[in-house]
Amino acid sequence: MSTDTKPAYSPGLAGVIAGETEICWVDPDAGLMYRGYDIHEMAEKASFEEVAFLLLNGQLPTMAEFQRFKMEIAAARTLPKQVLDMLRLLPKNTHPMDMLRTGVSMLAPFDPELNDHSHAANIRKAIRLIAKVSTLITDGYRISLGLDPLSEKPDLTMAGNLFYKLNGEVPPTWKIRMMDTIFILYADHEYNASTFAARVTASTLADMYAAVTSACGTLKGPLHGGANEESMKMLDDIKTPDRAEKWMMDALAQKAKIMGFGHRVYKKGDSRVPIMREIGRDLGKRVGKEQWVPICEKLEATMEREKKLCANVDLYAAPVFTMLEFPPALNTPIFAASRVAGWCAHVVEQHDNNRLIRPRSLYTGPAMRPYKGISPNGAK
Ligand code: ACO
Repeated sequence: MSTDTKPAYSPGLAGVIAGETEICWVDPDAGLMYRGYDIHEMAEKASFEEVAFLLLNGQLPTMAEFQRFKMEIAAARTLPKQVLDMLRLLPKNTHPMDMLRTGVSMLAPFDPELNDHSHAANIRKAIRLIAKVSTLITDGYRISLGLDPLSEKPDLTMAGNLFYKLNGEVPPTWKIRMMDTIFILYADHEYNASTFAARVTASTLADMYAAVTSACGTLKGPLHGGANEESMKMLDDIKTPDRAEKWMMDALAQKAKIMGFGHRVYKKGDSRVPIMREIGRDLGKRVGKEQWVPICEKLEATMEREKKLCANVDLYAAPVFTMLEFPPALNTPIFAASRVAGWCAHVVEQHDNNRLIRPRSLYTGPAMRPYKGISPNGAK
């Protein structure tokens, strides 16, 4: 048996084209496009539900389609009682991302179309998943605090409902719009790690819930979605803008990985950062917490000077979520509440034109050698 083949190898699959997609394009020069529409224009003019429809269906909805889509999401929000009971059984210190991953997995058998991978059934499941991921986050969080979940307010959008289901208060319009914009920014990002995990799972012809469960597990890590929770710990530690440069220099001297910086694709800046930065600035003024954006800007300038690395969206998402009064443990789940639209769109695309994703590895273990075990065949 020969093990000496040396196929082209790129550690971490850097630069590898692992598939085709019509859904999203990340421009290394700080751009991002959903199905041909510039994210900057979408963030300003569209709503999250419109973007989710676009990602799933390939074109913007008509007004009638939009209204129906919103109603379908609102109607699908409630979780089965058994899933709520399961959330109550989890230890109180369970991380919300673990609650979410477990919840998505448990939802699978409750979906009557679980194993129907047709395009139409997958779209219907996507709507149910988009609705229920948010509810898993909000209900799970209340349960972890020993509180009962709140009943749904179907007239609220995804963004409004997220606030309402956490504390029972309908937020002001400006806050809902801000959250809507954040959801638009996070909705998709082509072959990022969690989406790729979803596509690998879907490529075995496993169902959409299995794929989204894989994606949730992958998003949790601090090199991916988990960075927005970790960034807040860093900002809390820094506290004031005048401490930011020294903090960064010390961390770099210790060769630390700084959360919220660097990106596999973007080399001239993350397309989403300018919008998230402005949301942070606006929010800072509204809530009287204007220190966070200047801290981030100081960190950005220092990192640019020292390592030529750019901030990614999670640097600014962290203080934005804090100023919106979400506990840091919900930062990554809120990311998931939006990204589930992208994950589902990619599963639909994968199932519609499937080929098993199964790369090779480069074997670096010992050469073939004779077996000299102490107990052949387990005898004795
Ligand atoms: N802090 C310090 N140094 C860094 C950072 C960072 N955040 N990111 C990259 N570098 C350095 C690396 O140490 C490496 O230096 P070297 O060449 O001297 O060894 C160089 O920059 C290249 O970095 P890689 O790790 O090879 O970049 P890669 O593409 O593999 O990783 C990643 C990208 C994981 C995002 C990385 O930049 C990182 O760990 N960032 C921090 C975590 C983070 O913010 N993740 C969120 C990503 S965005 C998102 O998921 C929404």
